[in-house]
Amino acid sequence: MSKLVEPHGGEGLKILLLPQAERAEERERARNLKKVPMTSREVSDTLMMAMGAYTPLDGFMGEADWRGVCLDMQLQNGLFWPIPITLSCERGLAERIHIEEEVALVDGESDEVLAIMEVTEKYSPDRLLECEHVYRTADRAHPGVEKVLDQGPVNLAGRVNCLSEGVYPERYPELYIRPAEARALFLENGWSRVAAFQTRNPMQRAHEHLVKIAIEVTDGVFIHQVLGKLKPGDIPADVRTRAIQAMIDHYFVPGTVIQAGYPIEMRYAGPREALFHALIRQNYGCSHLIVGRDHAGVGNYYGPFDAHHVFDTLWDGALHTRALKIDITFFCRKCFGMATGKTCPHGEEHRIHISGTEQRAMLAEDAPVPREFGRPEVIEILREYYRSLQDA
Ligand code: ADX
Repeated sequence: MSKLVEPHGGEGLKILLLPQAERAEERERARNLKKVPMTSREVSDTLMMAMGAYTPLDGFMGEADWRGVCLDMQLQNGLFWPIPITLSCERGLAERIHIEEEVALVDGESDEVLAIMEVTEKYSPDRLLECEHVYRTADRAHPGVEKVLDQGPVNLAGRVNCLSEGVYPERYPELYIRPAEARALFLENGWSRVAAFQTRNPMQRAHEHLVKIAIEVTDGVFIHQVLGKLKPGDIPADVRTRAIQAMIDHYFVPGTVIQAGYPIEMRYAGPREALFHALIRQNYGCSHLIVGRDHAGVGNYYGPFDAHHVFDTLWDGALHTRALKIDITFFCRKCFGMATGKTCPHGEEHRIHISGTEQRAMLAEDAPVPREFGRPEVIEILREYYRSLQDA
């Protein structure tokens, strides 16, 4: 018997990718269907459904689910769900598609057919309502809000059969671990209490400290990074994966962590996204999600610990994966070591904090980065990347 947390909904993983043997024929059939181009976020959601990471969803949400999720974090059937998973479309195309028609969902950039969907509903969502409830702001300067405001005016809903996993499995053969594979790996390692570390950044010492705190209290940590689209200025995934590997190779006990990645696109929805990250990790078999300071936040839209508090607002049984809440982490000169807001009694003036912008400037200008902040093996990889940008 698996001792891992069960997938969300309690009925096993819902994998929407068709078996290999059926895909070629379905792809052929898709050629005669109307094409619905997807944004990069919709593509990433389709790939997440394909591998079962969005269990138990079976497609893009209809209006009742969309509304319930925005207002109460609940699907129509009462199940917890914190972020709308929707497919948008231009009005003209939506008018030409009739209910019960099958359409081909294609990547808007590459034109690859990723899925076939039978359209069961068309509706015009109130995008401002979505922004205000999910993102707590309708400010277009918020990168997640901007994407919602820019999406097509009509949502199409329906069951999805996926035909491809896109570019990821080939691009990241070792990192692209699907939920069923992660579960098998954890069991193979004899892990049942597994903490996920969600990240979109190369690991500096603050991240290292968070992961090591989790290793102390669980069987192992799944370092699970974003491979989908990020905002401009974020470090690209291939550089980040090498930087994380350097950290693991030099500073972790072998067998205590697994590095992996998944095709999600960040929404930067702060607390709501922290809940979503936990739900997804439940499908991967993780009993805990590390939630640190300003998890999945951007700018100053969320309080530094809003993503901690939001877990306390859930009803019993909403989620099995728990938040491993950790205060801000830093190097304190007076403690002479890594510490957290909860364990360090000294003042701000003793703590080393370097913002992302300051870090980028130090790396780009070849200025030294304090060893208290970053590990030299990691810094070297990031420096190389910034040098290559300057040479380009
Ligand atoms: S994100 O998905 O939350 O945007 P990011 O890479 O920025 O990814 O952070 C990864 C995790 O580390 C999050 O849980 C975040 O709260 C936590 N974190 C990052 N830096 C710190 C820090 N200095 N102190 C505490 N937690 C942090």
